[in-house]
Amino acid sequence: MIQFFQNKLASPYISPAISEDVPQLSSIHSQSFSRGWSKNELGKLLDSNGTMCLVLREEGKIDQPPMGFLLCRQAGEEAEIITIATEPKNRSRGIARHLMDAAIRNLQTDRVQSLFLEVDETNTNAIGLYRSLGFFQAGERKGYYAPSTDGEKQASNALVMQLDI
Ligand SMILES: CC(C)(COP(=O)(O)OP(=O)(O)OC[C@H]1O[C@@H](n2cnc3c(N)ncnc32)[C@H](O)[C@@H]1OP(=O)(O)O)[C@@H](O)C(=O)NCCC(=O)NCCS
Repeated sequence: MIQFFQNKLASPYISPAISEDVPQLSSIHSQSFSRGWSKNELGKLLDSNGTMCLVLREEGKIDQPPMGFLLCRQAGEEAEIITIATEPKNRSRGIARHLMDAAIRNLQTDRVQSLFLEVDETNTNAIGLYRSLGFFQAGERKGYYAPSTDGEKQASNALVMQLDI
């Protein structure tokens, strides 16, 4: 059987999101989560105080839509990852890792001490990424994620993870 493995992305170009990116970010979000965010919801989040949205494109293709994005919110010495997602066809190419590294560097510059996030305990890919970056489990929210309406997914707990930066 022939399998195709995508190459790791050699030359990422990371920048703050611009309003023209919103439709693509909404599309990536909808393909990544059971309740996707509309363009309107995303636009409002991008405009709210203390939020940083980073998008990743490939160097040399910066006129193309982003391949992944990360949204975080900062309040004093603490910050929270609100969401991170990579478009399905470009997963496992190192895009989320590049975005997390860039966000952490920016937050360090802003003297943020602790970065938090919530992740579904069943999301092993994301948990693998966060642990490899040094996040540890700081808490748990029981039954935080509702069961899917089609009954395919049970309710699950959220892990609260923390990184001291
Ligand atoms: C989680 C997600 C953002 C990872 O994005 P990605 O760009 O594919 O991730 P990367 O290629 O940067 O991989 C980073 C690390 O994540 C882990 N990982 C990612 N995909 C994995 C997979 N299929 N199997 C196992 N580990 C995986 C690995 O630790 C990997 O590190 P390595 O490849 O250097 O060993 C992506 O799967 C996604 O968008 N999922 C849907 C949305 C989501 O769940 N977001 C997180 C909410 S908390």
